[in-house]
Amino acid sequence: MIYQFYQRRVFPHLLNQVMQTASLMDKRRELLLPIEGEVLEIGFGTGLNIPFYGNVDALYALEPNPDIYHLAVERVQHAPFNIKHVQSSAEKLPFADASLDHIVSTWTLCSIPQLDQALAEIYRVLKPTGTFHLVEHVKHPDSVKIQSLQTLLTPIQKRIGDGCHLNRDIERSLAQAKFKFIEKQYFDAEGIPVIAQKMLLARVQKIDLDQLS
Ligand SMILES: C[S@@+](CC[C@H](N)C(=O)[O-])C[C@H]1O[C@@H](n2cnc3c(N)ncnc32)[C@H](O)[C@@H]1O
Repeated sequence: MIYQFYQRRVFPHLLNQVMQTASLMDKRRELLLPIEGEVLEIGFGTGLNIPFYGNVDALYALEPNPDIYHLAVERVQHAPFNIKHVQSSAEKLPFADASLDHIVSTWTLCSIPQLDQALAEIYRVLKPTGTFHLVEHVKHPDSVKIQSLQTLLTPIQKRIGDGCHLNRDIERSLAQAKFKFIEKQYFDAEGIPVIAQKMLLARVQKIDLDQLS
């Protein structure tokens, strides 16, 4: 009962605050400014990316959690382009095969229960020339000490952070899902605790499976 109150009434507000950390907002700008046309954003959260979509005409805002989306509604109403809320999860995307030019994820891949299934779905709905743009906190690529801490604390983080894993190797998962990197940049985000500070900003496209065979 108390946990349910925390999840429904407290966590969405915490999320809305933490995700506005200045260093994260800077990276949102860098990731989203070059995107044009129609976009699917997975894990839309409280709508913090809206101001950075300078050249977007229409956005599908996929967000399964109504308590989190509730905090996005006002931002959506004032957006300068059309936004359609899709209440669904990334593991089962309600879009046709090869139908989208751009898919975006900002700090969402950590929270998706079935990550491999979600990446397979993103692969399915992306056009052959389409791009998946992402920025995520990741398993530390070098420090064994931080990796161990991330693994130790992930069960607690999942509980207090709505399913968030601290120790996901996102680069590896993307490669396993048959994406190739167009851009890849690791950085430390200022103002974020060391266990979630290492970030990956990347743009990936589908490897052409026909060319492989
Ligand atoms: C850490 S929050 C990030 C929110 C937002 N993307 C941002 O940048 O502020 C993770 C988001 O992923 C969403 N999420 C969790 N499981 C999901 C799933 N299976 N499919 C899509 N989104 C999911 C959560 O509801 C939450 O909005």
